[in-house]
Amino acid sequence: MHTILITVTRETNYFMDIAHKNKVYITRKIPEPGPSILKKYFQTNMNLGVDVLGREKLFENVRGVDALICMLGDKIDSEVMDAAGPNLKVISCYSVGHDHVDIYEATKRKIAVTNTPNVLANSTADLTFSLILTAARNIVNADRYVKYGNWKFGWTPDLFLGYDVYESTLGIIGLGEIGTLLAKRARGFDMEVIYYSKTRKHKIESELDITYVSLEELLQRSDFVSIHVSLNKDSFHMIDESKFKLMKKTAFIINTSRGKVINEQHLISALKDKVIAGAALDVYEIEPISKSNPLTQMSQTILLPHIGSATFGTRSKMAEVAANNIVNFFNRKGIVHKINKI
Ligand code: DGY
Repeated sequence: MHTILITVTRETNYFMDIAHKNKVYITRKIPEPGPSILKKYFQTNMNLGVDVLGREKLFENVRGVDALICMLGDKIDSEVMDAAGPNLKVISCYSVGHDHVDIYEATKRKIAVTNTPNVLANSTADLTFSLILTAARNIVNADRYVKYGNWKFGWTPDLFLGYDVYESTLGIIGLGEIGTLLAKRARGFDMEVIYYSKTRKHKIESELDITYVSLEELLQRSDFVSIHVSLNKDSFHMIDESKFKLMKKTAFIINTSRGKVINEQHLISALKDKVIAGAALDVYEIEPISKSNPLTQMSQTILLPHIGSATFGTRSKMAEVAANNIVNFFNRKGIVHKINKI
């Protein structure tokens, strides 16, 4: 008992000792309680501007920091780590995805990289399911039709006919947290759920009554194909022309994961040539998507500005986790959602 007490006191002293000397930089404004948690322990500086910082400004602002909270739009590579200097010990991603951070480089330099898992999966699954409904029932086009004053003839037998979602087939690519929560929602609509994942998930299969199939079979059978894999060298352009050709002409592709999983040029051709019925996207190869991208001109697309996790509650929980990852890292206590082994 006595020993434990001494250990705790030492750790606490160690933390208090380093804490207020350590500097944390946050590259974009994040909600409470993130900033308050950090300000309690560290010298905290946050970019309050609305824009992603340019490279030079980012280099300048990270100079000498011990920890960094970064966003998806920040490319955190060796140049940023060089600019920060040798004090940098932890890079905390304000996201679950971490493809914007050079993990290899960070690990080489013994810098921990952390993320915000768990807290955003339900919100992203909600948004994904809303995209399925919106795409199937033509909701965006119908809304515009009414608002632009085009609705002239009252109830009309063939106005905005869409596809049924209930009892249709949903194909989920990647059965992680978000994919699993989407499957749960789909079962509520009596959808048949099939999935493809690198590793088979027997327990979830029996719990949710869903079926594992090959990627090819999934594409052939699904009315809605939803992507939930992280971006890596295996998933880059995983969905290309050959995959679109396997899909039904009446099928929709939904993507709330990462844009680069789909070959966007091939998607544009598949939509133009009516190989598939439509696409509902929250993510793109380049973000923000350019106004000149043909996807923005098509009635068969629904395009959102990467808002999968964008609810007040979830963004606030993400801020709490991102801040606590730093506090716990230095404090050597509590959960640190570390991605790399250092
Ligand atoms: C993530 O966290 O990776 C999402 O894309 C944004 O919340």
